[in-house]
Formats: sequence, structure tokens, C-alpha cells
Amino acid sequence: MTEPSSVIRVKAGGPLRGIAQVPGDKSISHRAVMLGALADGVTSVEGFLQGEDCLATRRAFEAMGVLCEDSSATGMRIHGVGLHGLSAPAQALDLGNSGTSMRLMSGLLSGQAFSSTLTGDASLSRRPMRRVSEPLARMGAYIEASDAGTAPLRIHGGQALKGQPFELAVASAQVKSALLLAGLYADGVTCVTEPGISRDHTERMLASFGVDVRVQGRRCELRGGQRLAATTIDVPADLSSATFPLVAAAITSGSDVKLPNVGVNPSRAGVLKILEMMGAQIELQNVRAAGAEPVADLRILASTLHGVEVPAALVPLAIDEFPALLVAAACAQGETRISGAEELRVKESDRIAAMAAGLKAVGVQVEERPDGIIVQGGAVSGGVVESFDDHRIAMAFAALGAVAPDGIEIRDVANVRTSFPNFVPLMAQLGLQIEEWA
Ligand code: S3P
Repeated sequence: MTEPSSVIRVKAGGPLRGIAQVPGDKSISHRAVMLGALADGVTSVEGFLQGEDCLATRRAFEAMGVLCEDSSATGMRIHGVGLHGLSAPAQALDLGNSGTSMRLMSGLLSGQAFSSTLTGDASLSRRPMRRVSEPLARMGAYIEASDAGTAPLRIHGGQALKGQPFELAVASAQVKSALLLAGLYADGVTCVTEPGISRDHTERMLASFGVDVRVQGRRCELRGGQRLAATTIDVPADLSSATFPLVAAAITSGSDVKLPNVGVNPSRAGVLKILEMMGAQIELQNVRAAGAEPVADLRILASTLHGVEVPAALVPLAIDEFPALLVAAACAQGETRISGAEELRVKESDRIAAMAAGLKAVGVQVEERPDGIIVQGGAVSGGVVESFDDHRIAMAFAALGAVAPDGIEIRDVANVRTSFPNFVPLMAQLGLQIEEWA
């Protein structure tokens, strides 16, 4: 899938203006396939993200006997096979770049009668998997990984799982979700307590499928053996993807952009709070519920931003948005400080190092810290940056290109397809001077 030669070039132009429909939420699309597959009956999904990561999840479940039919460009009908209806895949399941697929499926597959192997691309094969394999082992799962605790993962089936109480060291929706999905197959109650809030899409969606999930603050629990009943799922636009046009508009004078139907789940919406603290003008219009998830139409106007110290409590609520937030920081007056964000070092790339390298390359002063970064806002010139094989690094620098007098070239951008396949045409539609070269 990697095409090392593909590049994006962006140069500063006029304001960004107009209305753009951002594609579906990645986290919710993954969960729709997984839970739809395990349900009894046919689940209809609208707004599914046709990005490489979610397609990897879809192909994995198809390889385990689940029929997924396209009903429209972003609509899908998932023919659930029931809690115990998956069949053994003939080959290893290749999850590409998708950490969410690998971690959530580790939990789900630990409860199956058959064995399976999970593989991924170079980036996914470097990411830490002990954070799921170790707690799952406490439930009775048997997962073999490399000596470094990374993929490929060999998940041995036929293990009797037992529900346990867990106190997570790090707030992580992927770990929490892996444990809850294993918990569906466990004897007794699986209870997960986190040190901070992480996205709660799994809990909300399990409830939509009729599962009794009890949530109290940072703790959630479910009893094993509950069956899922097929439902309909409206996937909102992905706030993480929306962040790139939001930031590009916030930093480009004269911009006025509207993004309809974006997910604004409070466990994900830290980015909106941080941008507002920086002085961004964002309006949430027509806030409403789309099934289990809150959505709104977002309108953003360009404004003068100023640096902030990001409150530690907001870090897990904006964990995927830091590449774009650092771009906003580079264009803000004064200093922005982020700490307590060491998790950024184990995402699709080491996002602290990748952003520090790219920001320096385009003339921004930054200081890297083990758990964060300090950015001096003000002077952006332009230059060539690497994506480090990370979609969000690529898109963040494309947004920064909107104000770079010398333009920005981003190398190795094929990974944008994992989460935002129409990123380049959508940004061009809003007026960004952007081109992609294969
Ligand atoms: C995700 C959870 C987050 C996030 C990832 C998607 C999910 O990871 O970074 O992109 O869908 O559960 P952690 O839960 O590990 O922080």
C-alpha cells in the first residue's frame, strides 16, 4: 500500500470558504463492522468511512464468514452471524496500518473457538501490543507476540475467559474496548476503570445493540454471554478528520468554513476546547443526536490565535488531534506547551518527533520533551517535510501550507487514504492551493 513517491504540495493562497462534508468517523466505522458482525440479524450502517483502516476491518470479518453488502456509496448492510458464528479465517488477517483493528480484534478474537493471526504494515508492526495482550492474558486469553510485544499476534482459540476487574495505567479506548469485547465471551463481569476519560464509542454502540453496559464515570462493566441484536447506525463525520479543515480555516485570514454533521462526543471533543482556548471562533450549530452519538454542524471563522498551556485533562480527549493543534500553535502568537502526552510517541508514528522535525523544517521553533512539546508561534516559511508514514502528520502539514509563503511539500502521503480518502479534493474545494503527485 505504501507509495513512497507520492507527495502533496500546498502553497499559500486566498481564504478557505464553503461547506464540505467530511467522511465518516473511523472509530465508529470500525466498531459498526465488529458489533454488526457479532449481532443476530442485519445491521444497516450509513456514513461508513471507506478508508483503508476500516476496509481492513471489513475484509477481516469477511474472511471470517461475515457478509458485508454495499447499499450506497457509504452505506453497508452487515449480515451478523451471532456471538459464536464467526468462522476460522483461512489465512492471517492483514490489518494494514490500523491499530484500532488490531487492538479491538485481539480482544474479540481471544473469545473465539478458533485460532487466528493478526498482521499489519511496518508502522503497525512496531506498535506496542502488550497493553492488550497482558490484560487479556489475565482473563485467560493466550496471545503470542514478537519478543518486543508487537505483531504478528497469534491468538489461540478455545480458551475459557473469566471476567476481571481492571485498573488501566493509561486512558485508552483501544485497551478498554479490547477488554469489553473479550468480556462478551467471558464468564462473569469484566470491569474496566481508567485514570482519565477516553472515547466511549464502544460503550455507546454496545448499548445500541441491546447489551447492558454499566458506565459510572471512568468505570464501565458488562456481563459476559449477552447477545447483540442488529440495529441501524448513522456514522457522523469524523471530528479528527474535520480538525484539518478547521485548523486550516482558523489560521488563514478571511476564511469561513462549515462542516455539517460532525461527531461532537464529549469524550472526543477536546480539540474544540483547546482551539477555543487559543482564540478560535467555532460555532456548534444544530447540536443533535445521531443515534447514540451527538453531532453538530461546525462553523469556523479565521481569527488571531494565541499560544496556550494545554490542560493535562484535555490531552486524552484530543489525542489524535495534536498534529493539527501543533500547526495552530505554530501560527499562534506566543508559546504553546503540551505535556503528559507521551502516548503520542506510540501512534502511527512518534508524533512528537515527527511534528518537531517537520515544524523545524518549515522554520518554526520547537522544543521536544519526552512527554510533549513547546512550540513558539509566529514565523512559518516553508519547505519539505516527511509524513513518517503517518496520515495525520501529512494532513497537518498540508493545513499549515495554507499560510506558508514558500509552500510546503509533504513526502510519502499514501497513508492519508487510511482515514480521509478524499482529503485533497475536499481541501481544494474549500479553496486550498493543494495538489497531489503520485
Ligand atoms: C481509538 C482510540 C485512540 C486513538 C485511535 C482510535 C479508538 O487510541 O488514538 O486513533 O478507535 O478506540 P488509544 O485508545 O490507544 O488512545
